Amino acid sequence: MGGATRSRAPRVLAIESSCDETAAAVVEGGQVYSSVVASQIEVHARFGGVVPELASRHHLGAVVEVVEQALTRAGHAELVELDAVAVTEGPGLVGALLVGVMVARGLAAAAGLPLVGVHHMEGHLFSTSLGDAARESRAFGPHLALLVSGGHTEIVHVRGLGRYERLGATRDDAVGEAYDKVAKMLGIGYPGGPIIDDLSREGDPEAIAFPRAMIDSPDLDFSFSGLKTAVLTELEKRGEPTSRRALADVCASFQAAVVDVLVAKVARAHARLNERGLPIHVAGGVAANRGLRAGLARLGNELGVPFEAAPLAYCGDNAAMIGAAAAARLQAGLAHAVDVHSNRALDDPRLGA
Ligand code: KG4
Ligand code: ZN
Repeated sequence: MGGATRSRAPRVLAIESSCDETAAAVVEGGQVYSSVVASQIEVHARFGGVVPELASRHHLGAVVEVVEQALTRAGHAELVELDAVAVTEGPGLVGALLVGVMVARGLAAAAGLPLVGVHHMEGHLFSTSLGDAARESRAFGPHLALLVSGGHTEIVHVRGLGRYERLGATRDDAVGEAYDKVAKMLGIGYPGGPIIDDLSREGDPEAIAFPRAMIDSPDLDFSFSGLKTAVLTELEKRGEPTSRRALADVCASFQAAVVDVLVAKVARAHARLNERGLPIHVAGGVAANRGLRAGLARLGNELGVPFEAAPLAYCGDNAAMIGAAAAARLQAGLAHAVDVHSNRALDDPRLGA
């Protein structure tokens, strides 16, 4: 499937439907021609989390229009001049994944194009290469990636395309999940990440000394469920915050605990790899967090290594990142057919180079 002598990067229609965003995009390598995201946040907000059955149903309702919009905005409504169709094959909610896969399969067959399966987290790794010409032109080189979202918290050593080693991961809640659960306890809305992040700016990060779980353990793993319980205990002890300032103090203190642990573990991973100049990247929904971006930027400065955060527009789930990963795989002759899976790790040998 790989293109050996292309003059330009592959032009790809990509579809993403692994969780609660129905997304489609047309990219040429890392250059984004169109990126459409229909979020189901309102559908799931009253449950405080994603309800799988509702997610599949809403993907079905949205996917055709989202794909049409992406194609039309990119000037490819007729499906001509495309090189491939790409789709997220996992991990994710199986019913949700299947909606994207069905549509992608149908379009690829109709247009006579190859269909490329992409691992969702590999997509997130590529999100740091989207957004401007300088990023797009950069090769997908070795780096240390922190992947943080509602479903994942992992530190990955990226050696090159398809060569990933997971150095550490959460043992319980994903960091975004902890944000969402704490926001639910505080009754401030869903998804909790952006709300807590905003409120944190008004609060004192040292107001409450929340635990930094596993910060001193020699491994590169995380645990966030204890922190969530600590917030609950604090609320029970002091009562619900009665002023905006008191609420902001809880948020800022929680966020400081999260950021301290994430940054400390990335620093430890970097030291362990001991590769001079190895860049640090952060991607995934929680990469939008101001405190985390600032903390990692500071770490990059201290270590004298480049730091790259995914552009805000591509932190959350989107299809442009899936298209960019597929384009890179096509160019390298490493594209594979779709193989739907709900829970395969990023360093699964089937993804390998
Ligand atoms: O990557 P994403 O859109 O979907 C998943 O694959 O999970 O990530 C969503 C998660 C949610 O838990 C949300 O609360 C969190 O990302 N999030 C944030 C921020 N923006 C979104 N967490 C902390 N700070 C933010 N600014
Ligand atoms: Zn994601």
